[in-house]
Amino acid sequence: MQRNHNRPKICTIEKVIDETPTVRTLVFSDDVMSSVLPGQFAMVWIPGINELPMSVMISLESGKAAFTVRRHGPASTGLYNVKVGQQIGVRGPYGNSFDLKQGKLLLVGGGTGLVPMMRLLTFLKSGDDVTVLIGAKSKDEVFFEGLANSLLEKNPHKVIVCTDDGTYGEQGFVTEMVKKLVNEIHFDAVYTCGPEIMMYKTVQLAHSKGLFVQASLERMMKCGVGICGSCCVGEDLVCSDGTVFDGTHLLDNKEFGHFHRNKAGMLENY
Ligand SMILES: Cc1cc2nc3c(=O)[nH]c(=O)nc-3n(C[C@H](O)[C@H](O)[C@H](O)COP(=O)(O)OP(=O)(O)OC[C@H]3O[C@@H](n4cnc5c(N)ncnc54)[C@H](O)[C@@H]3O)c2cc1C
Ligand code: FES
Repeated sequence: MQRNHNRPKICTIEKVIDETPTVRTLVFSDDVMSSVLPGQFAMVWIPGINELPMSVMISLESGKAAFTVRRHGPASTGLYNVKVGQQIGVRGPYGNSFDLKQGKLLLVGGGTGLVPMMRLLTFLKSGDDVTVLIGAKSKDEVFFEGLANSLLEKNPHKVIVCTDDGTYGEQGFVTEMVKKLVNEIHFDAVYTCGPEIMMYKTVQLAHSKGLFVQASLERMMKCGVGICGSCCVGEDLVCSDGTVFDGTHLLDNKEFGHFHRNKAGMLENY
């Protein structure tokens, strides 16, 4: 019988990996989630707590997928604390995905926004020349640098880490490195996911050079399927029109980079 992707599938956590003091990856077996497209997400039910939107992380083992979660409020902390052998509900996948271009590619990720970037790396062609920028506040918060390098083993590539406080890699915001690189190199595509102000600046910089750029947005989500409207950014619903949008489209949206909605649906400044 075909699986109804709107019904949560109960999955058992098989492995927990500590990435940083506040970020963990939870691995589980699921054929559907193991093969989602980069940019797609799942709604994850944490029994007794809540349901959260989460990008689907890759696993290096076939037939497996993962969630990489940063503990924050009650729901993400509940997910972060799930132990091996415990169960979660997973529905989806939802949303669109990045348009795959070939050639010189720039990927810009911050925090758990690196999750769709890692999946994107698994879809690239061997001839692609790839630069990955990883932004973090400090050395403690850097993760996926080794993974990005190993996924790109067969490609010409660079993985550059930027920390705000300079405790690891290049000092400064990752967008300063974006500015330097787009001034020096003509990229065939720029992809970004992470804090919205980082994506906003990246989209602006790439667009100013006439580069193809796409961003995967995050918004408050409740239904995940285009019904409730809680994820709107202007006229767009992030869950069903996105999560991936073209830079040219985003720069016409007055909310992108400036406002998000709180749990009551009220607009708040970033
Ligand atoms: C498409 C998408 C992919 C995401 N991928 C990841 C990921 O890979 N790893 C990760 O750690 N986080 C991810 N997030 C953000 C994650 O869903 C929020 O961190 C989380 O919802 C906030 O958790 P909390 O514990 O603060 O929520 P609580 O304060 O417990 O509130 C829970 C409720 O508020 C909603 N909510 C609160 N904040 C957000 C938010 N920022 N985005 C969406 N809904 C919110 C939830 O849907 C839920 O109903 C993603 C968000 C989206 C939209
Ligand atoms: S989360 Fe309900 S419409 Fe997008």
